[in-house]
Amino acid sequence: MQGPVDRSRRRFILRTGVGLLAAAGMPAWVRAMEMQGMAKLAPNRASPGFRPDVELELAARQGAVSILPGEATRVQHYAARLASGPKETLADLPGSYLGPIIRLQKGQKVRIRFRNELMEPTITHWHGLHVPAQMDGHPMYAIDPGETFVHEFEVLNRAGLNIYHPHPHEITAKQVYYGLAGGLIVNDEEEARLELPSGEYEIPIVLQDRRFNAQNQLIYGPHMHDRMMGFYGDRILVNGRPNAEFEVASRAYRLRFLNGSNARIYKLGWSDGTPLTVIGVDGGLLESPETFPYAMLAPGERLDIWADFSGRPKGAELTLRSLPFSGALPGMAGHMMGGMGMMGAMALPVGGDYPLFTIRVTRETSDSPKLPSRLSKIGRYTLGDVANPDKPVPIAISGGPMAMRLNGRSYAFNDVQPGERIPVDTVQLLEIFHAHGGGHGGHSMGGMGHGMGHGMRGRMMGMMGGGHGSESPQEGPGMGMMFSMAHPIHLHGQQFQIISRTVAADRAGDYATVKDGLVTGGWKDTVLVMPGERVRIIKPFRNFKGVFMYHCHNLEHEDMGMMRDFLIE
Ligand code: C2O
Ligand code: CU
Repeated sequence: MQGPVDRSRRRFILRTGVGLLAAAGMPAWVRAMEMQGMAKLAPNRASPGFRPDVELELAARQGAVSILPGEATRVQHYAARLASGPKETLADLPGSYLGPIIRLQKGQKVRIRFRNELMEPTITHWHGLHVPAQMDGHPMYAIDPGETFVHEFEVLNRAGLNIYHPHPHEITAKQVYYGLAGGLIVNDEEEARLELPSGEYEIPIVLQDRRFNAQNQLIYGPHMHDRMMGFYGDRILVNGRPNAEFEVASRAYRLRFLNGSNARIYKLGWSDGTPLTVIGVDGGLLESPETFPYAMLAPGERLDIWADFSGRPKGAELTLRSLPFSGALPGMAGHMMGGMGMMGAMALPVGGDYPLFTIRVTRETSDSPKLPSRLSKIGRYTLGDVANPDKPVPIAISGGPMAMRLNGRSYAFNDVQPGERIPVDTVQLLEIFHAHGGGHGGHSMGGMGHGMGHGMRGRMMGMMGGGHGSESPQEGPGMGMMFSMAHPIHLHGQQFQIISRTVAADRAGDYATVKDGLVTGGWKDTVLVMPGERVRIIKPFRNFKGVFMYHCHNLEHEDMGMMRDFLIE
């Protein structure tokens, strides 16, 4: 089989120097294979020394599920079987194409035998989990149809909701769109002591948008416009189901949101204006609950919401809506989507006002848990903790019709730049910002993170804009500004803390429509970077050497190349 990924893997191996692989802490078998001139990475096998507490068999396969009335919808989906370990490890979402919720305990050793039963290459990534590089689902490990890749890792994460989804080169968006995704919950003792709502009172809520044709089949054929803006559906699915409703008792619930959409950003708000009580984010519980008038949720992000329906009478209804906001898409596209009716987008414009699901109280009870005032302990990082307080590692966002870039480069295997090499067991300051308009020459941002101060980098970027022409003629500074849009930036590996967000004065108007819903506390692995925004984060790079991706979680952007590797060495 000679798919695109297969060729990429060949390229990866052929172009990779032994020295780099050794530095990356690559497994010995990779080096051995390379020495023998074998072109293809063999899938990882079970290691005899690893004693799993939990063993799962996971498959990506094709199937059909009834979503809309009438014909069943052809999907790709994860199916899992528990080979050994606690029964509560797997919980199906009834009637859904989504994979079962995988529930793990911190400290557990987990072996997952992942089998590709699709017709194309794939590999699975554990979004949010801190696992060794070769277990992380990097596209270079994509396996062919019929192959099995064995993932083995210990759960180092604290309690939180994570995601498993495919990560093959340039076809991630399509595979996720056709149904390959699932939630992975980690529990720990700190969380257990709080006795938060659990069982039927803890509800996973995976938000996605999809387009269907008249035969109930999923439509995914991104035109250039879709690739630029992201692919948007014209209807919302919650846990894979349309017109979602939840029947509840009049008491407190824990709603665990995961934005599994390819590109759509939500502004969550209750229909009656009740504030949202946020108790956790991507990387688990906040230190204490925080209330927001609404909360933003970008692709790849999670929110843990305390929803108390106490005192609401039987029959009461409440809707969770996505509320209006602006600025997520470029001005021109926003108008096109709203006014000219780009396919599918008119029904649900990005930043429009539309319902997500309905809550209906069907049982009254006076017995409800109380919201704890303290949730968890989080050691807050400061600049005093980082190795590079004066020279943040840059993540510069730029893009145009032909390519999407980070730090001036589109994704390529084995293309780690000097600025993307991070010493293991360090804590680093990173800065994510838009490089539109300031120019982005496409060459060698390398070294900047470690070598230069802030002002110096600014001058360099100006020079690069004037100097090394951009790779695409359409992408001058003017175009760059025009394509300035929101990007959810995701970093693999250990989770991070957001330490500051600032926005350019000329984008403050749009920013005002989202800023009160940006939850910046807690541990994060994905952060929504609005147009004109500059976000500083502190991230530890502990335990594992090797190649870890960072990319836009607008999956069309990711597949267009808005992805890079950090080499932790
Ligand atoms: Cu959720 Cu690299 O992805
Ligand atoms: Cu993006």
